[in-house]
Amino acid sequence: MPKINKYVDIDTVEREAKKDLIDRHSPFITVESEAKKGEMLKVNVKMGNEFTHPDDFDHYIESITLFNGETKLAMASFIPGTLGNEKSHAEVTFNIRPMGKKLNLVAHGYCTKHGIWESTAVEVAVAE
Ligand SMILES: [Fe+2]
Repeated sequence: MPKINKYVDIDTVEREAKKDLIDRHSPFITVESEAKKGEMLKVNVKMGNEFTHPDDFDHYIESITLFNGETKLAMASFIPGTLGNEKSHAEVTFNIRPMGKKLNLVAHGYCTKHGIWESTAVEVAVAE
């Protein structure tokens, strides 16, 4: 079982190398703050905000998984070379249909060398 690393704001980190390591492995969720019950909602997840991650055969982002609380909603998997073997941001947009009163979205990114990295949770209000 790989270790799960939780996102910390890199502005609070002093060492430049550590900022790079944390940022390039962290999933960032972009989604509207309000959704309508039963209507499709786009949830974008991008790995890294300021720093890019390698796409090498022995070191790449293998998957991005989206959860609502403890429930797994969707997962995208990648192979090395998806991003042209260039340092880049692995990214995916999931289309989900919210049915409850709110969503508590959390994403995990899995790096083949550095384990699982968890995003900050993002809450979405769901109106009737
Ligand atoms: Fe990595």
